Amino acid sequence: MSEGAGRAPETDASVDAGAGTEEAVGTTDAAGTEEAAGTEEAAETEEAAETAQAVVAAEAAADAIATVAVLGAGTMGHGIAQVCAAVGCDVRVYDVNETAVEAGLARIGANLDKGVQLGKVTADDRDNTVSRLRGTTSIEEAVNGADLVVEAAPESLELKEKIFRTVDAAAPAHALLATNTSSLSIDAIAASVADPTRVLGLHFFNPVHIMKLVEVVWGTRTSERTRDTGVAFARRLGKEPIVVRDAPGFASSRLGIVLGMEAIRMVEQDIASAEDIDRAMELGYRHPMGPLKLTDLVGLDVRLGIAEYLHHTLDSEAFRPPELLRQMVADGRLGKKSGRGFYDWTE
Ligand SMILES: NC(=O)c1ccc[n+]([C@@H]2O[C@H](COP(=O)([O-])OP(=O)(O)OC[C@H]3O[C@@H](n4cnc5c(N)ncnc54)[C@H](O)[C@@H]3O)[C@@H](O)[C@H]2O)c1
Repeated sequence: MSEGAGRAPETDASVDAGAGTEEAVGTTDAAGTEEAAGTEEAAETEEAAETAQAVVAAEAAADAIATVAVLGAGTMGHGIAQVCAAVGCDVRVYDVNETAVEAGLARIGANLDKGVQLGKVTADDRDNTVSRLRGTTSIEEAVNGADLVVEAAPESLELKEKIFRTVDAAAPAHALLATNTSSLSIDAIAASVADPTRVLGLHFFNPVHIMKLVEVVWGTRTSERTRDTGVAFARRLGKEPIVVRDAPGFASSRLGIVLGMEAIRMVEQDIASAEDIDRAMELGYRHPMGPLKLTDLVGLDVRLGIAEYLHHTLDSEAFRPPELLRQMVADGRLGKKSGRGFYDWTE
């Protein structure tokens, strides 16, 4: 009994001790979890505050961009110059010769006149936009005093490297240096300047004054500040920016080419007509234009070039150009620009 009595309290004691321990563990756990949750919450709040601060700083930096240099006045360059001038920036438009500069400025004038005709731009806005544009054939003159440089020269890494080296020597140290490349590596281009943290991709779409999307591409050495300022500046232009890491094809071409190549494979396999494949995406997926019509507009040769590049760099069969595409390019069926592609454009 005493043993029993002795054992009982012992048992009780151990039960108590056990319960106490459990309770203690429970209490410690609860406190620990609460503490951890509190710390997590505090960290989240701090992170949210930092993000909000970074957004405000980026917006201020984007608003402070007063002078923009656009290098290359072709299809993309003239449009980029136009949208920058339209929001109040002084824009220098550089190209290699006077004819190209004049042609770029004339295209801006024509776009704006059309905007006035359609009632989308006021005559005052057109005149003010035009008054903020200045053409030049001197790259040094173009980038002198610029807060942002946007390069829109032909798609050649060698050429872009050369341009960025010149810009690095002639532009102010604070200037952001952007490239409108549609496929080349931002890291590779950034390697030609002393401070790669200020280099980013600002990938506009054609026609620039109409298309909303801008891919803001950040390389491994692009600073967050540069990236965020790029995003804020794109918004200032009335665009919808997306942020993409420097990777072959960024986001847009990588997805667009897969769809385009697969659609061509389906024509090759006689699964449906080009019209019906396009209709599947237009009506079934609400794409404004099917992948084959889009391929005709972009140019089959251009899409073949991108597909080959992505097939090679991403090492994925999804990008392998179909034989039909190669054949059509070899036959000169390049799409709208040659009169025939998947569609007949001669009429
Ligand atoms: N065309 C498109 O739909 C499209 C869309 C997005 C991005 N991009 C990219 O934009 C860039 C420009 O393409 P684009 O279609 O406007 O080409 P484009 O051929 O229409 O215009 C290029 C312009 O650059 C000029 N140029 C030549 N050498 C130069 C130099 N050393 N410095 C400055 N300018 C020079 C040319 O005279 C020409 O006016 C390319 O990197 C291209 O990949 C094109």
